[in-house]
Amino acid sequence: MARVENSRYVIILAAGKGTRMKSKLYKVLHPVAGKPMVEHIVDQVEQTGPSEIVTIVGHGAEAIKQHLGDRTQYALQQEQLGTGHAVMQADNLLGGKKGTTLVITGDTPLLTAETLTNLFDYHQGKNASATILTAQAEDPTGYGRIIRDHLGIVEKIVEQKDASEEEARVKEINTGTFCFDNQALFTALSKLNTNNAQGEYYLTDIIEIMKGEGATIAAYRMDDFDEAMGINDRVALAKANKIMCHRLNKMHMMNGVTFVDPENTYIDEGVVIGSDTVIEAGVCIKGATKIGTDCYISSGTEIVDSVIKDNVKINHSVVEESTIHSYADVGPFAHIRPNAEIGERVHIGNFVEIKNATIDEDTKVGHLTYVGDAKLGKDINVGCGVVFVNYDGKDKHQTIVGDQVFIGSGSNLIAPLTIGNQTVIAAGSTITEDVKEHDLAIGRARQINKEDYAKKFPYFEGK
Ligand code: UD1
Ligand code: MG
Repeated sequence: MARVENSRYVIILAAGKGTRMKSKLYKVLHPVAGKPMVEHIVDQVEQTGPSEIVTIVGHGAEAIKQHLGDRTQYALQQEQLGTGHAVMQADNLLGGKKGTTLVITGDTPLLTAETLTNLFDYHQGKNASATILTAQAEDPTGYGRIIRDHLGIVEKIVEQKDASEEEARVKEINTGTFCFDNQALFTALSKLNTNNAQGEYYLTDIIEIMKGEGATIAAYRMDDFDEAMGINDRVALAKANKIMCHRLNKMHMMNGVTFVDPENTYIDEGVVIGSDTVIEAGVCIKGATKIGTDCYISSGTEIVDSVIKDNVKINHSVVEESTIHSYADVGPFAHIRPNAEIGERVHIGNFVEIKNATIDEDTKVGHLTYVGDAKLGKDINVGCGVVFVNYDGKDKHQTIVGDQVFIGSGSNLIAPLTIGNQTVIAAGSTITEDVKEHDLAIGRARQINKEDYAKKFPYFEGK
């Protein structure tokens, strides 16, 4: 019999504190591959085509709402009386509706849209009142166990803390994700009680309740236990990060990115990397970062929220909230701080720090230099140990340097300052006044050599 009511709904359980995480941060906001667990869930369930998503919030409700915005509706669970009680809070929003409801816990960030779609399809195909998403665990510790009768038909779910020895030996576990006939779900929820080891309203108990009333209970067993993992503590969190990292790196490799050591390379979810880019070991690429094709990112580099165009080389460096244009090279050991724009073919060498500055094509800043709050033109040579002195203790000031300027080593450019095109700043200068086009500026004391004075220097006593 085909169902007419095909609407899909989703309820995400995210009201728990996550006591076992021992954290100030609410459990479902802990990031996996840079993104809060609960956001991974929303990303995946959205792809199953639900007409409504309701997130149950309690602990950290405001923070969760801030992350998810209007991608879901919210129901508040004032007191955390268990997963069944959490689902009850969606009654006002979904209670009377016809359709299929996916209930998913907020701490299973590895579940994919593909598995969830399969679950929906399986459930609808079986015409069941409830379908449990199950998995076979090597070590089922901590999970609810799926108890089947001698014919293999699901009877109930038993939580670890309530399980007999025999039940505890069962390795088929409840992933915490279910599909329900929506109306049957809310009817059964009203019959839950708290007679169990934890004194909670367990969502898992409604399987036995429904079964007792003659409803059809199905179980859809997924192949990959890893994907079903529930994150209750930091050990599981680390494992989930590892699995997600593996999954993401594989995706990048399939897209043509070379990883020298994918086991030790950490790329956040959402990062884009072009083909023929090579990523060495120990690289971390975070946030909303986009890297082009044919780049070389050497070991230990960290890139956060930045845009790296094509053919860029970054060597053992840190890049934050900045843009690096094609054929530029950075490092080793450079720090590109927020709001820097590094032009095409620019060379940023070792121990150089750039902050809130634009540097136009072909300019070279090779060694031991600080460039802050500045605009540098094209084809400039910045010598070694140049400081753009931008801060007077109270305010920041800007330095503007024209094209094809030669800035000698050891110069201090004291902002605010404008330096014209094709000028020369003599090495060792402290520049406090503007320099106009084609001038040479020299700002240092004249040298005096005092004959034989060195002999009086205590260092030479007895030498
Ligand atoms: C739960 C299941 C268990 C399953 C496991 C899968 C129950 C009783 N147990 O156990 O069978 O194997 O998930 O990972 O359902 N939450 C609320 N309100 C509450 C309590 C929990 O919103 O009052 C939320 C939590 O924020 C969390 C989710 O529900 O996202 C699951 O809670 P958790 O305490 O992690 O349950 P488990 O012990 O993992
Ligand atoms: Mg859990």
